[in-house]
This record gives sequence, C-alpha cells and structure tokens, in this order.
Amino acid sequence: MKLLDQLSEQLDELQALGLQRSRQVVQTPCGAHQVVNGRPVLSFNSNDYLGLANNAHVLEALNEGVRRYGAGSGASHLISGHSQAHQCLEEQLADLYGPHMPQARALSMCTGYMANLAVLSALTAGQSSAEIFSDALNHASIIDGARLSRAKVSVYPHRSTQALAQQLQASSAQTKLVVTDSVFSMDGTLAPLPELLALCEKHGAWLVVDDAHGFGVLGARGLGALEHFGLRSSHVVLMGTLGKSAGVAGAFVAAHDTVVQYLIQRARPYIYTTAAPPALAHALLTSVNIITGPLGHALRDQLHQLLQVWQAGLAQFLTVRSDLSRLPCLLPSATPIQPLVLGSNTAVMQASSALMQRGVWVSAIRAPTVPAGTARLRITFSAAHTQADVHTLLQGLQGLPALSPGAYLEKVPA
Ligand SMILES: Cc1ncc(COP(=O)(O)O)c(C=O)c1O
Repeated sequence: MKLLDQLSEQLDELQALGLQRSRQVVQTPCGAHQVVNGRPVLSFNSNDYLGLANNAHVLEALNEGVRRYGAGSGASHLISGHSQAHQCLEEQLADLYGPHMPQARALSMCTGYMANLAVLSALTAGQSSAEIFSDALNHASIIDGARLSRAKVSVYPHRSTQALAQQLQASSAQTKLVVTDSVFSMDGTLAPLPELLALCEKHGAWLVVDDAHGFGVLGARGLGALEHFGLRSSHVVLMGTLGKSAGVAGAFVAAHDTVVQYLIQRARPYIYTTAAPPALAHALLTSVNIITGPLGHALRDQLHQLLQVWQAGLAQFLTVRSDLSRLPCLLPSATPIQPLVLGSNTAVMQASSALMQRGVWVSAIRAPTVPAGTARLRITFSAAHTQADVHTLLQGLQGLPALSPGAYLEKVPA
C-alpha cells in the first residue's frame, strides 16, 4: 500500500477513536485573556505560571537583547553561537543552584525536550553498562531520551519507591540513572524526591530531575523542587525549562561542573544544533531575576491564593454534580496543574467544547499523552489570572453536560 493511503487510514482511525488533535490559532500574547480563532477566550492552558510571557520587563529585555545581539545566533554553541548572554545566563543559574549542588555549573539548552535527550543519552552512552530507571508517568522527552541512550531502561510504577528500590538492588549496571519529573506534567503531583535521592545514594545511582513544572513555582525563591524539598547533592542532575514559568523559551541543565563539562563535549542534542537566539538568553536574565526576587515571591503568593479559591469552589461544585463526584476526577495536586480526569475521550472532548462555547478554553488531554481511559481537562492556573477568572471557570464547569454513567469506562485501545 502506498504510504499516503496508509497515513490516511491511520488518520481515519485516530478520528474514529476520538484521538485526532487539532490546533487553535492564537492571535494575542500568552495570558489569561486571549483571542483564539477570532474569538475572545479566558484561557487555562498555558504553563506560563507566573505570567512572565507578557511581562513588561521581560519584553523590554527581549527588545534590548535584539538590539544588542540581533535576531539569531548564527551557529551552534561550539562553533560561534555561544553569546555573552548565554554565558551570563549560565553563570546566573550556576550561582543560584550552588546551595543545592557542590561545584554547580549550568548549561543553557534550546529546549527542555533536547535537554532531556542530551542528559540521558550523553551520561550513559560512553559507559560500559548503564541502566535508566524511569517513572511510569514521566514526560515523553524523558521516554525518548531513554530510548536514544540505548541503555537498559527499567520503568518503575508511578512514584513507587518500593519498586524502584527492588530494581536498583537487582541491577548490576555500573552507571545507574534514576529519572523523574519533579511535578508530573499531566497530574500536577510531586515526585517523592527526598526518598528517591536517598535510594540513589544508597545504590550509587544518580538522580536526574526534570523540573519543567517546578522551576519558578516551587521553593521560596522559585528555584523549584530542590529548593522546595531542601535537597543538596552532587549526584543530582537538574533539568529546568525556561519556556514555562520563565515565560520565554529554552532550558538549562544544572549539575556538578564535571557533568556539565562532559555534556558540552559529548551531548549531541547540545552540540549539533544552532544555539538559541542570544536575545532570548538576554530576556531570560530578567525572567530569572524576577522569579528569584520580590516580584516572583508576590506572583507565587497570587498563584496560591488562586488555587485556594479554585479548590474551595471545586469542592462546592462537586457536591452538586454527582455524575462527576463518582469519578476519580481529582488528583491530589497542590501545584498550578489541576487536572479534571473524566476518563473517556468523548466525555473530555464534549466538556472542552462546551467550555469553549462559554468562552473558557481548557484543552482536552488524551492518550498517548496520558494513559488510555484517563482523558482529562488539564486546567492550569497562572498569576496572570484573577479570582474573578477562577469563578468564571467554575461557572463554566457548572454548565457542562452530564456524563453518562458508562463514560469513564469507555475502552480506548492503547
Ligand atoms: C515535564 C516536561 N519535561 C520536558 C518538557 C519539554 O520542555 P520544552 O517545552 O522546553 O521542550 C516539558 C514540556 O514541554 C515537560 O512538561
């Protein structure tokens, strides 16, 4: 069969399963209120948790970065693309992570996806035997990084330190990497990092933490999961993204100096790509200053207040929506990621479009991003929202069509 015919058949299958995805065209900056497909909407989708994507200071820094460095970097970091802005950003981040890892050094990367590929592939490739231990609900970029590494991969049940302990005990690999999201991106829940680190130290393993959704949000200075849990270790490799709370784009790896030096020499997703525009790194210097300063503190306070309003409103709402209160729709999330797990693809698509008709935009998340049968509305809050916005969301949810009793049990092939 010709490739085009095969692809069309597979696209039809996705549609029949309710798994076809579509994109909405956004015509205004990232924020609470946006124009999408020509219509004003109140959005609860972005990972711009602090509202920095459209912050005046960050925008001014970006403009200044363009004036100073132009549009593009022109080459990869190891050729001629490593600008003073990249260098300053790395030094700023290394200073910040000093209290959490001895001899801390940071490396700026184009994206978090590439950072995970870089860390997992480079740290295992040159070793005689390596094993990666990965949480079952880790982000796709970790899964892909583990595949790229060609190391043995052992997936442990979600957040099960007991299962991980057994796997580590049974492993004879010389290099062991335990890798986990710090905040699970589709659940909003936290990994048990102190217990994971203790296990790593006991078994001579390294802990690779993907702090994509922790950086900026967790910890007194917004430094993320390590600060939140008060962890310090030279056996931690931290990946943070800069397109979420930092509001711009890119990512970084913070680790012991030797690890970063090795990544610079060996990590192919770092070496063989054009460096991100220096203007972005220049803007990020301002973002990171905001995150760790008094404004960042105030923005995190605002987020926590919004979460309290949401959780109180939701508890009230579930008392009147018995169809939803029967479902395991609430995950114990204390982060701005607040999923409502509805179960079936049909239910979640209906809910998302019913909300959109009311001018509230919440994306439906389905397999394979989340396990089949756990389709959900992934509601995310940002300091750019107001309490009135949260009430509008709650009102929108009140108008959702009732779920049929079998909705949660609908079978979705993997
Ligand atoms: C947990 C997690 N890790 C990594 C990434 C990839 O980061 P980036 O968007 O910077 O590629 C994301 C999101 O996209 C994520 O949610």
